Amino acid sequence: MKDLSELQGQIDSIKAEIREKAESVARNSKDLYEMRKSFLDSKQGKLSALMKEMAQVPGDQKASFGKAVNEAKQWALGFFEDIDKKVREQELKLRYESEKIDISMPAKKKECGNLHPITTVRNQLIDIFTGMGFSVYEGTEIENDFYNFTALNTPQDHPARDMQDTFYLSPEFLLRTQTSAGQIHVMESTKPPIKIVSPGKVFRSDDDATHSPMFSQMEGLVVDEGITLCDLKGSLDMFVKQIFGEQTTTRLRPSYFPFTEPSVEVDVSCFECGGKGCKLCKGTGWIEVLGAGVVNKKVLENCGIDSEKYSGFAFGLGLERIAMLKYGINNIKMLFESDLRVLEQIDD
Ligand code: PHE
Repeated sequence: MKDLSELQGQIDSIKAEIREKAESVARNSKDLYEMRKSFLDSKQGKLSALMKEMAQVPGDQKASFGKAVNEAKQWALGFFEDIDKKVREQELKLRYESEKIDISMPAKKKECGNLHPITTVRNQLIDIFTGMGFSVYEGTEIENDFYNFTALNTPQDHPARDMQDTFYLSPEFLLRTQTSAGQIHVMESTKPPIKIVSPGKVFRSDDDATHSPMFSQMEGLVVDEGITLCDLKGSLDMFVKQIFGEQTTTRLRPSYFPFTEPSVEVDVSCFECGGKGCKLCKGTGWIEVLGAGVVNKKVLENCGIDSEKYSGFAFGLGLERIAMLKYGINNIKMLFESDLRVLEQIDD
């Protein structure tokens, strides 16, 4: 048999145990939950277990016994609730502390991709020429000898073939050395008026600071009635003003290409010094930018175009050369090495 004073003793020691453990053992809400269970769980809880001893309590004391145990339970519930609140507050404080953001810290720089300078120049040139009514024709990088040379008035054994060291894939096929090959395709398949630009990669066995075995050109071709060298000069003047600045002018110098007659080398007035002479223009006031000329009648005839009725002009420029001039790059390799330190400085 149990009596009430014995029970009260048990209750007091459980309370003391709860107080002590809650302070020292329960450091987080999970520990506290486990501990709470060990006292209040309806099956294993120490306080709940007291109720099971009811059977051993004399009948007249049962009511007081039950009341005492229930009071102890209520106290424990309240006690755990208070501690739980404190523990959770503490946990939240720690979390805020660890997740604290220093809004005064400098932001991380986001690296942003850019178009390659050659792509940028190509897009700019296409913009300028399409603005003048040209359309874009893209040829193929593998050509046969006929389109790259023969039809352009450069038959086998013609000395002008030496101007361009060619990569042959077979006796017939080669990597095009010039976008001029595209002229023939266009003139074969289109009746004048023709007004196209043709950008693309070209290949020559050539390698130094200003030459690379692979580089990019853009061809221009206009064929219509009454086209003269003046039309060429007018179009190129408009082009250089847009790409190098309003004050820029052009100068034509006699040159030779088998597929144009007359042929010219086109210089622009130096956009760095305005023509006074500087390092960029090597003191001359002029910078060579492209080759051009009036389409040779033989080339028109090769493509079945009546050279009595129609005439045309053509030009071919190197995109790397334009990019190097525009961005002050002195070695063509910089345009192919993809060194971010270089590319980052070129942002147009
Ligand atoms: N195809 C010539 C070259 O690559 C450039 C050019 C094109 C010259 C059109 C005249 C007319 O050097």
